[in-house]
Amino acid sequence: MQSEIRFGIVGCGLMGKEFASAAARWCHLDEDLPRPVITAVCDPNQAATTWFKNNFATIKLITTDYKQLLASNQVDAVYCAVPHDLHADVYIDVINAGKHLLGEKPFGINQKANKRIMEAVSQHPEVLVRSSSEYPFAPAVQRLCNMIDNKIFGHIIQVDAGFMHSSDLDPGKPINWKRIVLKNGEYGCMGDLGMHVCHVPFRSGWKPQNVRAILTKVYNERPDGKGKNVACETWDNATMFCEAIDPVCGQPFPMTLKTQRIAPGETNTWYLSILGTRNSARFSTKNINILEIMPYTPGGEQNWQVVDIGHPTAFKSITGGIFEFGFSDSILQMWAAFIYELTYGKVKNKFAGCVRPEETELSHRLFTCALESQRTGKCIQL
Ligand SMILES: NC(=O)c1ccc[n+]([C@@H]2O[C@H](COP(=O)([O-])OP(=O)(O)OC[C@H]3O[C@@H](n4cnc5c(N)ncnc54)[C@H](O)[C@@H]3O)[C@@H](O)[C@H]2O)c1
Repeated sequence: MQSEIRFGIVGCGLMGKEFASAAARWCHLDEDLPRPVITAVCDPNQAATTWFKNNFATIKLITTDYKQLLASNQVDAVYCAVPHDLHADVYIDVINAGKHLLGEKPFGINQKANKRIMEAVSQHPEVLVRSSSEYPFAPAVQRLCNMIDNKIFGHIIQVDAGFMHSSDLDPGKPINWKRIVLKNGEYGCMGDLGMHVCHVPFRSGWKPQNVRAILTKVYNERPDGKGKNVACETWDNATMFCEAIDPVCGQPFPMTLKTQRIAPGETNTWYLSILGTRNSARFSTKNINILEIMPYTPGGEQNWQVVDIGHPTAFKSITGGIFEFGFSDSILQMWAAFIYELTYGKVKNKFAGCVRPEETELSHRLFTCALESQRTGKCIQL
């Protein structure tokens, strides 16, 4: 096994820093995995690279042109965290350069862009291509996923999944690229938050058959940060009502997928609730250590039980088993999953793997149908 994998980072903003920070505390993991070493970074905004330069002595190349980073023989793999309008061109170039890629969601600004990425993926099976999505790595979610894997829910009655933000409730919050269609895409909040919501349902085999979506814009304008107001173009909130088929019993069930940027009181809430005839379970990042479960035997009592999970992560770490889990832990776990798959050619368990390209493809089909549903007011078949 090689001892390290040399990474280039394209996009040195919020998420580029999160990855670099996870790489810097790789010793936190107690697993036999190569270490990611940051050797190159790229951002057209040079100021964004200063933090990297100051913190990573291993960086040999700092550039404003990602093609230069891709040409470097010091780079084996790339993490790409750039605005959505750049996903297709950059991801395709990364893949064609023969570098492994962990890209960010939504994996293309729209379905057409996603199809272009999928073509490059199919032409380069030698390269590992995955999309980021870190919330399933919370230990309580891993436990819930284990319940799914063990098929103990009975018939699925209903699934509700969502990702809710609240900071856009403030009408004075200045606009950024995530609220501009040309940069973020027509999907709006679905492109931003949707893959996070779809990851576990899709991996569970709960594919939406159809969707009726209600999309809303709460504020039409926002300050531009320079004294003027500008149009805020993207959808703030989306509720997707879907029908899915339970692969265990073959029966349909309702599944709601919510992505909301204006959800009062929800700073960063990812939740998943599964109701079944034999077991039910629910989780929310608001109580990150807690998994609620309700086993049921016919005629028996219906008691929700609260399990305080602690720290049994999919990838072992030095943290004591009683301590709580956090966002940066989930990023570290996701990176362990990517590097595990790169090293061993398989995932550690079904739900301890990053999002696969075909799962992004399904998410694009869903979001495209959701846009059509909003336009027509109809339920759209996927
Ligand atoms: N996994 C998560 O939890 C999560 C959270 C937030 C954002 N994201 C995703 O990460 C991606 C980036 O979002 P962010 O919040 O880090 O954005 P950001 O605006 O903080 O950072 C994006 C960076 O990309 C740089 N950039 C622009 N054009 C570039 C180019 N041609 N080459 C290289 N760099 C370029 C920008 O200068 C900026 O520094 C998006 O796809 C977003 O959806 C994921």
